Amino acid sequence: MYNNIKTEINNRILYITINRATKLNALNKETLAELNALIKDFYNNPEAGVAIITGDGPKAFVAGADISEFASFSIEEGKQLAATGHSSVFDLIENSPKPIIAAVNGFALGGGLELAMACHFRVASINAKLGLPEVTLGLIPGYGGTQRLSQLVGKAKALELILTADMIGAEDALALGLVNYITSPDELIAKCEELAGKMLTKAPLALSAAIAAVNASTKNEKNGFEVEIDEFGKLFGTEDFKEGTQAFLEKRKANFTGR
Ligand code: COA
Repeated sequence: MYNNIKTEINNRILYITINRATKLNALNKETLAELNALIKDFYNNPEAGVAIITGDGPKAFVAGADISEFASFSIEEGKQLAATGHSSVFDLIENSPKPIIAAVNGFALGGGLELAMACHFRVASINAKLGLPEVTLGLIPGYGGTQRLSQLVGKAKALELILTADMIGAEDALALGLVNYITSPDELIAKCEELAGKMLTKAPLALSAAIAAVNASTKNEKNGFEVEIDEFGKLFGTEDFKEGTQAFLEKRKANFTGR
């Protein structure tokens, strides 16, 4: 169905594998368009409640945007490249009503780290290498990296990583809070599945509300406290709220339907 992405749904988890290993899974235009279609489908697909994004092969998660495609771009084309990327892929992932986990299995550079940072959280294998090397190309990160890295690790470390173009290893990324866990390469997907499994037992509309409220904390145009109050209130109108509270009172496990 897709030329650059492999997908599979198993136990309500959508597995997304960027599948251009010969180019270290670099994000070309077609891959971004496919990700757009796939994530939009995930929003509405009742078969899947959590997604895991990873890269094909042992070497790379995603080694960046495809440099060969934008090497001759003009100012206007450059601006368009970033704007389209933001709205059609990176913001779409961040605003997904269902959790998306990045399984960082190797190089996550430039647009690759930006992809991982757009996900709700990240698990890295011990061999992962993360960085935003755009200044080496005479550019800056253009898929949200200047904003999301600052939000995740603070302004000073974000500036250091962006201005030096340094790559860091998984342990440094863990210490910075850029990734939530590190695992051996073999255990990477299992760790993501463990986290996905926990979320899949929870009320889906509550997960969506939590994502919206936490995301609002990083948006200047929104008052996160107001978003939290609205989202909290809305959940009182859901069947899952009634089921969750009833199950607690009856000392049994809740059976959520997403309504
Ligand atoms: N865009 C386009 N092609 C890329 C790419 C990218 N971001 N990253 C890697 N590739 C391609 C290489 O051109 C090479 O293709 P080829 O075999 O047709 O020549 C292939 O992927 C393998 O990469 P290679 O550089 O040979 O592997 P390596 O192990 O020597 O180095 C990296 C790995 C990640 C250090 C190196 O590929 C790199 O620096 N990539 C660019 C990273 C970057 O600047 N990303 C930000 C982009 S905005």
